[in-house]
Amino acid sequence: MAKSVKKSPVKKPVARKAAKPAVIETHESPAVVKGAEPHAPTKANGTPLVEMKDISIAFGGIKAVDHASIDLYPGEVVGLLGHNGAGKSTLIKILSGAYKRDHGQIFVNGQEVTIANPRDAKAQGIETIYQTLALADNVDAAANLYLGRELKTPLGTLDDVAMEAETRKVMHRLNPNFRRFKEPVSKLSGGQRQSVAIARAIHFNARILIMDEPTAALGPQETAQVGELIKQLKAEGLGIFLISHDLHDVFDLSDRLVVMKNGKVVGTARTSDVTHDDVLGMIIAGKCPKGAIPGPGAMKQVA
Ligand SMILES: Nc1ncnc2c1ncn2[C@@H]1O[C@H](COP(=O)(O)OP(=O)(O)OP(=O)(O)O)[C@@H](O)[C@H]1O
Ligand SMILES: [Mg+2]
Repeated sequence: MAKSVKKSPVKKPVARKAAKPAVIETHESPAVVKGAEPHAPTKANGTPLVEMKDISIAFGGIKAVDHASIDLYPGEVVGLLGHNGAGKSTLIKILSGAYKRDHGQIFVNGQEVTIANPRDAKAQGIETIYQTLALADNVDAAANLYLGRELKTPLGTLDDVAMEAETRKVMHRLNPNFRRFKEPVSKLSGGQRQSVAIARAIHFNARILIMDEPTAALGPQETAQVGELIKQLKAEGLGIFLISHDLHDVFDLSDRLVVMKNGKVVGTARTSDVTHDDVLGMIIAGKCPKGAIPGPGAMKQVA
């Protein structure tokens, strides 16, 4: 079950941006910190939107994900980092219903749920945007938004007018400068394509968004545009798992970060509690810095 941590209302640590503090101040109750639970709520109280507990999956003999636990609160971005093959995509594919776990539990809003396929995940408000975006290139934004869930007129024909009107509404919320409603998405820029993919994900009431390397193929300007989208969705209360190799993106956008190595969680930290070097040490050596809560994959520290 979700751990309820009783404390004062939501409060993000503010004054700890510059140097690393000599004393690591935590805002958790001592029990939570000492218990080396692999999650460190940034949101003071309330139930996580989603909690994956002790998840494992093996392919043949390879433990792709090994007793990993992560969670996510409303209005929070959690960055998921790690080397190639660390198990990031596999872990989130279990949440999105693409893979079936061998072990562990998933809770949504504190309730244990069964996610056996992508439809189960969507029913829980979990939407995934894969790196490939999976857009239909030769049709426009509206057709992409409603792909497989097309609106029909009473006569049973496609209701293009309604679909375009709805698409304009959603896109306006996300990207007010977007005007290219009549063009196939193949003609759009990388950032615009990303916003169509995000629009499609959130249009159907997503509460939990998984983004796997959303900016990997984008230039600086478009990366900034996607960053703005992420900040906006966060402000609307969505929870976002952001998988990225880009430390700058993760430091810019995430409230917390989780580092995986060899299928295991090395540690979880508030982004403001760790430095770039700390995180590199977690990724490369599995070294969990003071500001982070160690997971099962943390290298044992010599006393
Ligand atoms: N369908 C599969 N069949 C067999 N092995 C798999 C499968 N999917 C993932 N793996 C293996 O599981 C491990 C974790 O892979 P995963 O793709 O989750 O890593 P990742 O952290 O997302 O890496 P990257 O940063 O390269 O995307 C790797 O050893 C990978 O080869
Ligand atoms: Mg991956």
